[in-house]
Amino acid sequence: MWKGRFKTETAQLLKDYSQSISFDWRLYRHDIAGSIAHATALQAAGLIAQAELDAIRAGLQAIENDIERGEFVWKPDLEDVHMNIEAELTRRIGDAGAKLHTARSRNDQVALDLRLYLRDETDEIRRLLGEVQKSLVELGERNIDVAIPGYTHLQRAQPVLFAHHLLAYVEMFARDANRLTDARKRIDIMPLGSGAIAGSTVNLDRELIARLLGFPSITQNSMDAVSDRDFAAEFLAALALVGVHLSRLSEDLILWASAEFKFVTISDAFTTGSSLMPQKKNPDVAELTRGKCGRLIGNLVSLLTTMKGLPMTYNRDMQEDKEPVFDSLDTVKAALQIYAAMLREVRVNAAAASAAVDDWNLLATDVADYLVLRGVPFRKAHEIVGKTVALCLERGIGLGELSLADYQALSPAFAADVFEILNVRRSLDARTNPGGPSSANVRGRIAWWKQELGSTLEIDTL
Ligand code: ARG
Repeated sequence: MWKGRFKTETAQLLKDYSQSISFDWRLYRHDIAGSIAHATALQAAGLIAQAELDAIRAGLQAIENDIERGEFVWKPDLEDVHMNIEAELTRRIGDAGAKLHTARSRNDQVALDLRLYLRDETDEIRRLLGEVQKSLVELGERNIDVAIPGYTHLQRAQPVLFAHHLLAYVEMFARDANRLTDARKRIDIMPLGSGAIAGSTVNLDRELIARLLGFPSITQNSMDAVSDRDFAAEFLAALALVGVHLSRLSEDLILWASAEFKFVTISDAFTTGSSLMPQKKNPDVAELTRGKCGRLIGNLVSLLTTMKGLPMTYNRDMQEDKEPVFDSLDTVKAALQIYAAMLREVRVNAAAASAAVDDWNLLATDVADYLVLRGVPFRKAHEIVGKTVALCLERGIGLGELSLADYQALSPAFAADVFEILNVRRSLDARTNPGGPSSANVRGRIAWWKQELGSTLEIDTL
């Protein structure tokens, strides 16, 4: 493509070192769509004839079909997806193909392709996030009456509904989807026409290209347009957070599936055995997902590090943007897909949940609140109940097993109705503040989410 200036062939070592076709071939559909729009603008500007545009369009569509059928031969010597497709087009249709690159550089071309690609992928990931949310909502709904201890510091804290715990993740994934929607706004800007760095003396109708490709706006600085990858970094940041959220959900599931917690059982289809220990049933999906979060964070750091020292404008370093992006995409899509399916096969062990939540200490804060409602300042109430808990520990009994006389010796504000406080259901259902875990709130939120997400799950389980 640049042979005019050079006297000797490029070293094979360099060709192998610099090729990106082994991974950027994935951009072919977007590359072809971008080229057809570009050719349309060339024709509108009178730079190519209608017949040439027709030949380019037909030629590119034929190439796309060949790629889709697996019949296209990618040539590493042609470096990247852009040159592979253009060279083959020219081989097939001659001069019209050789005119396609007029007023275009691979620098603005690759920026366009990546934006088109990420725009589609953003939509797909949002759809998959919705599928995981639906699975979580349905798992919560199926177990709407199950209460479990909520934990802070991994110590039992206060009772919550199991569904409330799951809905926390539904909220996280909703923010992830919003983040992607927001990132998409900055992805959705059309860079073609920026050329290599300084636009072109051949003026094309950039707005026409944007319209043809469904972009609401065009980039406003040619130097920025060819060297900006912050749209990709934002995308990777959003995916890293999806990964963090999935990883925390994984950790919860791993704990819950252990013999120590026993809150859930994951179906055989989504667990693995041990080659040595016959009794084992391992939550590998959750562990792998927790593990894959590392690369999602790594990919973000990788792109940021690649970009941080680059002088304006395009530098070849930027070819390193693609593999982290593709890897994060593949990783997140696969994780969301399997999670949506696996969560439908999680069974809750109501007996184990009930045994765990049946812990008087989970209600200690409720007893403090009881004193507060009788006029005891909270700090004082906290201390009194702390002493009450210490007394129980000393005697090896629970808060519900002290006598009224014991309570009144600790504070005259206690009356017989303190025993009514010592009830998990009452504790839960008293938490009616918006966002609190009362049954009414949680049922309401489940109904809200079902409406929001639509009811049909689109992912097949097996
Ligand atoms: N494969 C290149 C990339 O991914 C395309 C742009 C190449 N531009 C250049 N001036 N060599 O960044």
